[in-house]
Amino acid sequence: MPKQKKIPIEDLVVPPQNTKICGTICMCQMTAVLSCVALVYLSVAIYMPYMRAFQSGMATDPIMCTTTRAVTTDSCDWGSCGEWCLSKTSGSCVQIYVNLRRNGSNIHLVNCTNTANKTCYGIDQENAKKYRCIADECRNLTGTFNCTLGMCINITDAFECIFKNVDPPLKCSGRRGKINCIEMDGLQNCNRGTCERIRTPYNCDRRCLDIPTRNKNSILLSGDKVYLSQCQRAFVTGTDVELWNESQNNILMMSCYNIENTSVGTIDAIDCINGTLLDKSTLSDLTNFTYLSYLSVTNTKLMDETRTVAPPEIDLLIANESKLLINMEGCVNTLRDECKEFLREYGKDGTDHNARGRFPCFYAEQNVEIVVARFDLEVTYREFVLASTVPSVLFVVSCFTLVMCQRTVEVGDDSKMRIKKFSTVLAAAVKNGNGSKKHDDGADGDNGGGGGGEAAAMAL
Ligand SMILES: *[C@@H]1O[C@H](CO)[C@@H](O)[C@H](O)[C@H]1NC(C)=O
Ligand SMILES: *[C@@H]1O[C@H](CO)[C@@H](O)[C@H](O)[C@H]1NC(C)=O
Ligand SMILES: *[C@@H]1O[C@H](CO)[C@@H](O)[C@H](O)[C@H]1NC(C)=O
Ligand SMILES: *[C@@H]1O[C@H](CO)[C@@H](O)[C@H](O)[C@H]1NC(C)=O
Ligand SMILES: *[C@@H]1O[C@H](CO)[C@@H](O)[C@H](O)[C@H]1NC(C)=O
Ligand SMILES: *[C@@H]1O[C@H](CO)[C@@H](O)[C@H](O)[C@H]1NC(C)=O
Ligand SMILES: *[C@@H]1O[C@H](CO)[C@@H](O)[C@H](O)[C@H]1NC(C)=O
Ligand SMILES: *[C@@H]1O[C@H](CO)[C@@H](O)[C@H](O)[C@H]1NC(C)=O
Ligand SMILES: *[C@@H]1O[C@H](CO)[C@@H](O)[C@H](O)[C@H]1NC(C)=O
Ligand SMILES: *[C@@H]1O[C@H](CO)[C@@H](O)[C@H](O)[C@H]1NC(C)=O
Ligand SMILES: *[C@@H]1O[C@H](CO)[C@@H](O)[C@H](O)[C@H]1NC(C)=O
Ligand SMILES: *[C@@H]1O[C@H](CO)[C@@H](O)[C@H](O)[C@H]1NC(C)=O
Repeated sequence: MPKQKKIPIEDLVVPPQNTKICGTICMCQMTAVLSCVALVYLSVAIYMPYMRAFQSGMATDPIMCTTTRAVTTDSCDWGSCGEWCLSKTSGSCVQIYVNLRRNGSNIHLVNCTNTANKTCYGIDQENAKKYRCIADECRNLTGTFNCTLGMCINITDAFECIFKNVDPPLKCSGRRGKINCIEMDGLQNCNRGTCERIRTPYNCDRRCLDIPTRNKNSILLSGDKVYLSQCQRAFVTGTDVELWNESQNNILMMSCYNIENTSVGTIDAIDCINGTLLDKSTLSDLTNFTYLSYLSVTNTKLMDETRTVAPPEIDLLIANESKLLINMEGCVNTLRDECKEFLREYGKDGTDHNARGRFPCFYAEQNVEIVVARFDLEVTYREFVLASTVPSVLFVVSCFTLVMCQRTVEVGDDSKMRIKKFSTVLAAAVKNGNGSKKHDDGADGDNGGGGGGEAAAMAL
């Protein structure tokens, strides 16, 4: 038995090593390699974008963009948002074109009473109640419906559709109703389960009825929202330049990017353009959104005759048909469907009868062809500093440790690694049968080495 026990130990080419020394060397090598790889990867992912951002000449203060077109195309020489930067996106891509213009005016309205707001959403395709014909939910449909393959959404309240021709009616009620309407498609005009498909051309306009205009003299449009109020004066924010007061006895109308602080009798509107004055007689007690939008675009009596405060949009225009990119690279690496969200929000070009996208964007004066939705030089700089220091420091530290190991660790006669300083002492100790716990056993010389290793490790 003792013979058998001895042989395998002697047969070991590499005896069990001190795990702490091995671990340290292993960790350092891994860190060195990984930080090297990180440096190479980051030079693509961070340093190059950083250099490009700095050389781009982009202004750090944004101005405004309005989406004019969002086109899905198969020939992608550029795309507004790609999902992964390291490879060129294949397949189709979305290209968003915007109008680039200087900021409008910030307007401060005071002593406002009767403030009201109304949001005129079109149809939110995702959240609207869907009638599934296959489940016999179409048997009572009344009104105008937008159907896709037997799935219908009530658009009666949101849209007013004008049309001439319809297809022959389909009966969705009754026993065979499910089968009849299982593939119902397109715009349908329904009356108690009997639906007629509306033929093109038709024109559906946003309805948003019942906007209260009684006793209101300030109307601010902001995207799909309307703010109405009865105010006494209007100023340019932060100044006491009076633009308008209620004694003029007309209605002030503007299109603004955002409206804040409607509560305390004041309204702060930012980036207002197309400021016009309407005659009081134009509006009665109630109006509809389509009409208001129409007035805001066609009315020509400017609020500020000098065209400096809230001027017509055309006066502020820097470029039409600029290409919009999500950031300098036109792509994101987050893999969190960020592009989908981005395209949904910024790609609103008004074809679904909702308001167009309007948002701050960044541009370089020497190249107005390209604008960028996200640009933050400070964050880019911080990322750059972080991305360059962390791997470099790790690399230097691990290399330094490796060099230190090379200097201090030696392989003993028993082909074990240990720290040099102690190893001479320990070797002597082993020889003397000293430093071993169980030398009465006297069987294997391994015990001494193990103990020595432990001592070295503790010293480490
Ligand atoms: C333009 O308006 C945006 C949005 O309100 C604002 O962030 C930006 O600072 C403004 N730019 C200038 C140059 O005033
Ligand atoms: C608001 O109206 C009150 C009374 O009508 C008036 O005393 C006050 O000066 C007005 N405030 C402003 C900022 O015009
Ligand atoms: C819009 O009006 C509703 C009530 O009609 C009010 O609760 C809400 O705070 C208003 N929103 C703004 C931004 O003024
Ligand atoms: C359909 O309409 C009729 C009357 O218009 C009503 O009695 C019935 O409950 C409705 N059915 C469904 C499923 O809504
Ligand atoms: C669709 O909306 C209109 C208007 O609100 C309503 O009269 C009609 O009953 C609705 N139809 C269904 C099936 O909900
Ligand atoms: C009807 O639905 C389709 C697809 O869901 C959409 O593209 C279209 O704009 C809708 N039409 C109206 C008038 O809402
Ligand atoms: C209101 O505006 C008119 C013309 O813009 C001006 O003549 C008048 O003095 C203003 N009224 C007040 C109370 O400021
Ligand atoms: C709203 O008004 C209050 C005081 O009138 C002010 O302290 C606050 O900063 C304003 N908020 C915004 C978002 O303008
Ligand atoms: C909107 O208002 C205008 C003018 O008041 C009117 O001619 C038009 O018919 C209205 N549209 C709808 C859908 O009610
Ligand atoms: C401003 O008015 C012009 C025409 O006068 C119109 O084309 C543009 O859409 C309007 N802008 C907004 C944001 O309503
Ligand atoms: C863009 O602007 C140019 C010159 O400013 C003009 O000739 C062109 O018609 C404009 N294009 C559109 C689509 O507005
Ligand atoms: C063991 O080492 C100690 C000091 O490290 C020494 O005093 C002692 O004499 C040694 N024992 C033998 C047997 O050499």
